[in-house]
Amino acid sequence: MRLQDKSAIITGGANGIGKETALLFAQQGAKLIIADFDEANGLAVVKELRGLGAEAHFIKADVSSSHDAEQVVAAAVEHFGRVDILVNNAGITRDGFLVKLEQAQWDQVIAINLTGVFLCTQAAAKVMMAQGSGVILNAASVVAQYGNVGQTNYSATKAGVVGMTKTWAKELGPKGVRVNAVAPGFVTTNMTDKVPDKVLDVMKQQTPLRRLGQPRDIANAYLFLASDEASFINGAVLAVDGGLSF
Ligand code: NAI
Repeated sequence: MRLQDKSAIITGGANGIGKETALLFAQQGAKLIIADFDEANGLAVVKELRGLGAEAHFIKADVSSSHDAEQVVAAAVEHFGRVDILVNNAGITRDGFLVKLEQAQWDQVIAINLTGVFLCTQAAAKVMMAQGSGVILNAASVVAQYGNVGQTNYSATKAGVVGMTKTWAKELGPKGVRVNAVAPGFVTTNMTDKVPDKVLDVMKQQTPLRRLGQPRDIANAYLFLASDEASFINGAVLAVDGGLSF
């Protein structure tokens, strides 16, 4: 039980990597707040978590709203009395070539993937600093460093997440709060369902391990970074991509 009695918030926990992370954290003893705007799947995840014996609650939230971000953190404090772990996992894509990208696509991705991470972290950090402890984990991506055709907006947000991770590691470290990011390669979820098979085949061929990631691969990295085993790891961006980014 590597997260026994820890209070964890997982944004975007209704699907994909977030859901898998919630299930793994629950198996390791964590209590969970699932914050997502997908109510149907979020409630289903909470049911599954309770089936595993975990305390869990769903909060319908849009991470790009400061009001919702505050509500999510308040819910964790109300139910569990503290916030030990925040996983800023909620994210979207609205892909398009640079010259065709509409400002609405840019704005949506910035609002959720970048502003959402800022707002949730700001709300949680206040509680964690007062506690003198906490772990913040951010969803970056291999495209932060390497770019990707059609992902001007998305790669900008993920590079921004890396910058914020390092800034917060410096600001919050002295207060006992660790901040790290995970940079997944291509992982099989609803998000990559939208990517054409021929593009995914190319990604597989460029990956030394010759496969796409599974949500559990990323959840395992979050578990390690959330656990006390990572107590001296701060400001790191852990690539979990089968070697794609080397
Ligand atoms: P997904 O699409 O399966 O799940 C994303 C979740 O975020 C959904 O439950 C969705 O409802 C929720 N969400 C979206 N906007 C939200 C908002 N404004 N407020 C609250 N919840 C919101 O995606 P996946 O693949 O599980 O991705 C999770 C994270 O991992 C994202 O940040 C993504 O950018 C990142 N990532 C994913 C990769 C992949 O290949 N699947 C690769 C690299 C990073």
